[in-house]
Amino acid sequence: MHFSKRSEEIQPFHVMDILARARKLEREGRSVIHMEIGEPDFNTPQPIVDAGIAALQSGYHHYTPALGLPALRSKIAAYYRDQYGEAVSSSRVAVTPGSSGALQLLIALLVNPGEEVLMGDPGYPCNRHFTRLFEGRVVSIPVTAAERFQLTARLVEQHWSDRSRVVMISSPSNPTGTVIDAEELERIAAVVAERGGALIVDEIYQGLVYGDESTTAVNLQGQVYVVNSFSKYYGMTGWRLGWLVAPEVAMDGLDRLAQNLFLAAPTPSQYAALEALEPETALVLKKRRDQFQQRRDFLYSALIKLGFKIDHLPEGAFYLYADCSNFSEDSSQFAMELLEQAGVAITPGKDFSTLDPDRWVRFAYTTSLQQLQQGVDRIAQFVEPLR
Ligand SMILES: Cc1ncc(COP(=O)(O)O)c(C=O)c1O
Repeated sequence: MHFSKRSEEIQPFHVMDILARARKLEREGRSVIHMEIGEPDFNTPQPIVDAGIAALQSGYHHYTPALGLPALRSKIAAYYRDQYGEAVSSSRVAVTPGSSGALQLLIALLVNPGEEVLMGDPGYPCNRHFTRLFEGRVVSIPVTAAERFQLTARLVEQHWSDRSRVVMISSPSNPTGTVIDAEELERIAAVVAERGGALIVDEIYQGLVYGDESTTAVNLQGQVYVVNSFSKYYGMTGWRLGWLVAPEVAMDGLDRLAQNLFLAAPTPSQYAALEALEPETALVLKKRRDQFQQRRDFLYSALIKLGFKIDHLPEGAFYLYADCSNFSEDSSQFAMELLEQAGVAITPGKDFSTLDPDRWVRFAYTTSLQQLQQGVDRIAQFVEPLR
């Protein structure tokens, strides 16, 4: 058997081992509180489901144009106008199979073999792997609580080399939930533009920002690409639908890549998503966001009381990235034992970091307050003897 070097170098999600073990324990009759899962526990809002069913019944079973259904591209453009006051032409929008499809298109568009993509560590692991897939070189830049786990213009300047082409930012971030400061992001865009590079800003958790209003990078200076998705805020993970906003000059290349890589995003999902951007759905989604915020507030204080270290109150997404070094120097072992002994599933830092994985674990508050409360009680008993 012969497999490519790239396929062998791409790492699995370690959390899948935790999830598989959790499911096995559940089959054996054990109860498990799930705080490892990076998707909303809520189902897709009903108006979206109804629109998906109607699309199937109306015979929308065929390909759409590679860059997406024109009506959906227009609606996404209108979303930026209505929510953020940003003018975006629908011709700059491409609809993709999840934001995963968008990220792959962009790396394919922007990176030649051996060219560098700069990203913060900890960060969303697939970005490393997409870069590897297209033979780019990942430059992992350590970001700490001091920078709210986000890149800064200074860090980008320090790590930029002759071979650097792209900087990737996720805000709010997975795994830390932190939001990049809007002015810092502008400074980063300026640094990247001066050097002729491209900036990719992943805004997939943009709908899930608590407190302050969220912002968007769609019209920042230079060659800026924004990625977003119907997965998280709109509760549509399984529909596989995302989008990107790109400079006009990039659309031809993106169109050719999309035609070849996946032909088009799923058609029924695109029709369903037209409903995701309607006011009726917005009301449901806002209520859900309030629930996520309550969960964040509860879990943040509870974990700190237990002795986890979290220097920042994350403003978004549904994750808390916590330092567990008061209890263990090996976060993978900590996560496995927490599951085996206490029945709580969380994600170890090694899924997000190659530079400093062992002190960190990620808690996802993608389960009810009641379940979170029960999880916290179990964690309290588990860590008591480890103090
Ligand atoms: C930061 C970030 N970007 C992109 C994705 C991909 O999501 P999807 O392909 O479902 O849009 C995820 C999923 O967890 C994520 O956390």
